[in-house]
Amino acid sequence: MANQTNKQEDNPLSGKVAVVAGASFGIGAAISKMLAAEGAKVVLVARGEKLLLETKETIEKEGGVVIAVTCDVTKRSEVKEMIRQTENTFGPVDILVNNAGVWHYTFMKYAKEDLWEEIVDVNIKGVLNCIGAVISGMCERRSGHIVNVSSDAGRMPLQGLAIYVGTKHFLEGMSHTLRQEVCHDGVKVTSVQPGPVDTPGLAERVTKMDDECKRRFRYMDEGIKLTAEDAARAVIYALKQPKDVAVNEVLIQPREMPL
Ligand SMILES: NC(=O)c1ccc[n+]([C@@H]2O[C@H](COP(=O)([O-])OP(=O)(O)OC[C@H]3O[C@@H](n4cnc5c(N)ncnc54)[C@H](OP(=O)(O)O)[C@@H]3O)[C@@H](O)[C@H]2O)c1
Repeated sequence: MANQTNKQEDNPLSGKVAVVAGASFGIGAAISKMLAAEGAKVVLVARGEKLLLETKETIEKEGGVVIAVTCDVTKRSEVKEMIRQTENTFGPVDILVNNAGVWHYTFMKYAKEDLWEEIVDVNIKGVLNCIGAVISGMCERRSGHIVNVSSDAGRMPLQGLAIYVGTKHFLEGMSHTLRQEVCHDGVKVTSVQPGPVDTPGLAERVTKMDDECKRRFRYMDEGIKLTAEDAARAVIYALKQPKDVAVNEVLIQPREMPL
């Protein structure tokens, strides 16, 4: 018994059930790998099956316990089904990492409304669908941790990213309030706010920037970016705190690019 207690203290994530939305590549894949290395049972969630299964295989080769569930977080019924599969396989969700997110570099004057809608759907509705599927259970069990991967864009204006900035400000306000609502139910809510991170999503979107954005985001060419692992370590840091300690926000940026 004493040994078991020590093990839990040494490795607080061991045996925890962790759902990572947006886990097939980029920051989410890095978070998933680290969670599995810490002994968590990890549920990888994304739309594309091929890369999701590749990440699953990588984790399994390292001895991690993992399942992959294809799911579009913008579809509430798919999210509910993903949580049902999780509970059937591993049991109730201890940790939800809302990492799935999209953005496009375009000034609002170009009125790319389909892109605006996509950003709102994934970054706001997708996060709410995932929280909605787990929050009541966490409060009933008086235990749980929700990590919302926000952005430094949730703390300031960024020309060319107005809709994205708006969704991340929503995430900040919602996280702040949810945290106050559920802290007495034993549930933690952390917002992790990375600056630019070198991921497949960033690399692809940089090639599609408006000319205005190319000027505004010139620092991208100078290689001033975090790695996905840098951002993932911030998530793991928040998750590993003692039960009564809450790391509520983590702003993590390249040293040469403070707010
Ligand atoms: N990269 C940066 O510079 C940066 C900076 C600050 C904050 N962030 C935030 O960090 C998070 C991850 O960014 P990233 O750069 O790692 O992105 P990424 O490389 O584009 O990866 C995004 C992940 O989310 C999944 N995804 C996208 N839409 C989804 C949906 N509707 N349902 C389920 N999964 C979905 C993708 O897989 P599928 O496409 O197969 O679904 C993929 O696994 C985002 O919330 C982003 O806003 C990124």
